Amino acid sequence: MSRAEEALLEFLQSNEEIPDSHQFATDSGFLHSELENVIKSLHGFQLVVAQDVKRENWVLTEEGAAYASSGSPEARLLEQVPSEGISTEELKRKLGDGVFKIGSAQARKNGWIDIGKLGVTRKVEHIEDRVKDLLNKIKIGEAVSDGDVADLKKRKLIDRQTWKGYSLKKGPNYTLRRKKVVTDLTRDILLRGDWKDLEFKEYNLNAGARPIEYGCDHPLLKVREQFQNIFLQMGFAEMPTNKFVESSFWNFDALFQPQQHPARDSHDTFFLRAPSVTRQLPEEYVEKVKNVHESGGFGSKGYGYDWKRQEANKNVLRTHTTAVSSRMLYLLAQEPFSPKKYFSIDRVFRNEAVDRTHLAEFHQIEGLICDRGLTLGDLKGVLRCFFARLGISKLRFKPAYNPYTEPSMEIFSYHDGLKKWVEIGNSGMFRPEMLLPMGLPEDVSVIAWGLSLERPTMILYGIDNIRDLFGHKVDLNLIKENPVCRLGMA
Ligand code: PHE
Repeated sequence: MSRAEEALLEFLQSNEEIPDSHQFATDSGFLHSELENVIKSLHGFQLVVAQDVKRENWVLTEEGAAYASSGSPEARLLEQVPSEGISTEELKRKLGDGVFKIGSAQARKNGWIDIGKLGVTRKVEHIEDRVKDLLNKIKIGEAVSDGDVADLKKRKLIDRQTWKGYSLKKGPNYTLRRKKVVTDLTRDILLRGDWKDLEFKEYNLNAGARPIEYGCDHPLLKVREQFQNIFLQMGFAEMPTNKFVESSFWNFDALFQPQQHPARDSHDTFFLRAPSVTRQLPEEYVEKVKNVHESGGFGSKGYGYDWKRQEANKNVLRTHTTAVSSRMLYLLAQEPFSPKKYFSIDRVFRNEAVDRTHLAEFHQIEGLICDRGLTLGDLKGVLRCFFARLGISKLRFKPAYNPYTEPSMEIFSYHDGLKKWVEIGNSGMFRPEMLLPMGLPEDVSVIAWGLSLERPTMILYGIDNIRDLFGHKVDLNLIKENPVCRLGMA
């Protein structure tokens, strides 16, 4: 129990009321702020009943405080006027211009002095420095008349101050000494037997509990899981995507993307400084890729340029997950052929200017099927089937170009909200120039498609700036509070 609390409770034992906590603080030598905490606590436990009181009082201005200690200018002036009088110059010199100016005006007003040609003469023997006395009364909180207050206020010697305090009375639980309530039953309390006399704090069953920390999936992960489920339900197996760093060879060359292609420029692709080149590539296959780029084969003319190994060796941050597909298809070609359905969903990187809808990294969703005798009709059928599971049934296809697919099609869907067709993906049939050097049988076709994970996630969660979804500006509450993804559940 603090001293302030003790003093307060003691006072109320023999007094009906504390009318003003400020006064009580001054009288008992406590800071009001200290008392205020005690009051709030005592009020909370109903040992006292506290009521807000607003109090106005007067405090001395700087000038007022100076007069209160060294006297008013008029009194100080009169002190310096001898019975025979004094010249104004002499008086000014003694008092200083400021005190002289105020003092002479006030003293004349009071009828204490005369100012004539010969100087200043006094008209009274004794005076009382009322201004000084009044100021000192106000300083210690004594009451002064309204008229005096008005005069002092006019001379800017006092100022009004309002403050909030409390009036206090005993409350229903008043006692002189507050018993400390115990919050925990400890071993010591049991051993000492104190528990018999102690007062225990009641449980507050209405108290809010601290929110439980919990982990939660990012919206991208939720949507990714739904896409994974759709692929798995359709019988697709997931490809290993654990390689953000890829050689240009698998990212571009194996995909029959020529080495002068603008996408292989550092403005579009992130190249690695260290390690800048890949350590190993399957030499026999590299030779075949080189040949198909330079002079074609398998019914193709090729690109007719000088293919450079150093260019293929360069490490990049993979620009699309099709790099994963090219590795996978190559591996597949090393075994006796069997049809496969594969998918991947992972991060890719492009050296792009960042804006509302673009980041330098995003996630791609990619699916592919390889089998004998697949046609463009199969691709369209699979896409309709895949997108139907996302709840997207209106699809259109538009001829497009990719270095590694022929034919290629952009996929559009009708957006009911925007009332227009929007591009949702890209697709095609991998070229023979890509598949045959790998060693896949000639009658095997591969149909494939890709889309971003961010686009559908932003649409599903109503996020219109990609920086609110991914990166350092993301509000963690968005991640904690967003709803489950209902994609594919309809
Ligand atoms: N790789 C393409 C892209 O990055 C997508 C795609 C995948 C296109 C498979 C055709 C076939 O946009």
